[in-house]
Amino acid sequence: MSRTILITGASSGFGLIVATKLHESGYNVIGTSRNPSKMQVPFKMLALDIADDNSINSFSKELFKHISQLDVLINNAGFYLSGLAEETTIAQGKQQFDTNFWGTIKLTNELLPYFRKQKFGKIITVGSIMGLLNFPNAAYYGASKHALEGYFKSLRFELKEFNINVAMVEPMGFKTNILHSSVVAEKKINDYDSYRSKTNAFAKDLFENAPEPTPVINTILKLVEDKNPKFSNPVGKGAKVFLAIQHFAYNTFENSIIKNINKFK
Ligand SMILES: NC(=O)c1ccc[n+]([C@@H]2O[C@H](COP(=O)([O-])OP(=O)(O)OC[C@H]3O[C@@H](n4cnc5c(N)ncnc54)[C@H](OP(=O)(O)O)[C@@H]3O)[C@@H](O)[C@H]2O)c1
Repeated sequence: MSRTILITGASSGFGLIVATKLHESGYNVIGTSRNPSKMQVPFKMLALDIADDNSINSFSKELFKHISQLDVLINNAGFYLSGLAEETTIAQGKQQFDTNFWGTIKLTNELLPYFRKQKFGKIITVGSIMGLLNFPNAAYYGASKHALEGYFKSLRFELKEFNINVAMVEPMGFKTNILHSSVVAEKKINDYDSYRSKTNAFAKDLFENAPEPTPVINTILKLVEDKNPKFSNPVGKGAKVFLAIQHFAYNTFENSIIKNINKFK
């Protein structure tokens, strides 16, 4: 029997490519989108908005009409709230957490009873390098991804006795739809005018020159196969160096970011 994989946010970016590749390799893939009918994909798509409790409830009921076991859950759905911390409203910050953090946790919780009953499974969550360190313009996004890291670090211990593996993937910037679907801070505080324009130019430059997502796709596909996946899997040029720098000399990391931002006018 082919293994069943559920991947959230399979309509675009990392999720769409991973779901397509797994389907082509013979996995039984269930993908999700808030609008599953908006596109034709070769795998099964179900409706799910992870920021909506009712949607999560009806999704999990629907899911088990289509499958009899779940081998891997890939928590991939998420969005990017960009902007300076003080210019971001608390309501916007809460929406970021409702999707990236609470949505991911609520869906995972909904599926844990099935995983525990089976006594096997794997949960792979797409965090971000911004969940391990952080850049300006990404306070709430980074905070939501840091929160995921902390949560799953604990869950990993707790699920070991049920033979359920827990792993994170922490990509640097890669070309997907993430910028297009991002939400921008609502407030404008004049004191930040010059800093805002520099950090916006820095972020635009990062995303415009971001590489194709192949290394992230390969990392997720490898994690699906690994019998004993590592917890943390940073991906992308400089990711490991950034982390080593952060570990051994946080000031050097911070200064290198400030220097890069100051190159912009
Ligand atoms: N691209 C990068 O550079 C990068 C770097 C680090 C981490 N990440 C993370 O990678 C993951 C995938 O992002 P991506 O870069 O592939 O971006 P993307 O192309 O914008 O894809 C985002 C996916 O998430 C889904 N989604 C968004 N909000 C949702 C919600 N409330 N409920 C259910 N699904 C929702 C979207 O589906 P629908 O709109 O169809 O519902 C879409 O399929 C995200 O968690 C992101 O934070 C991306």
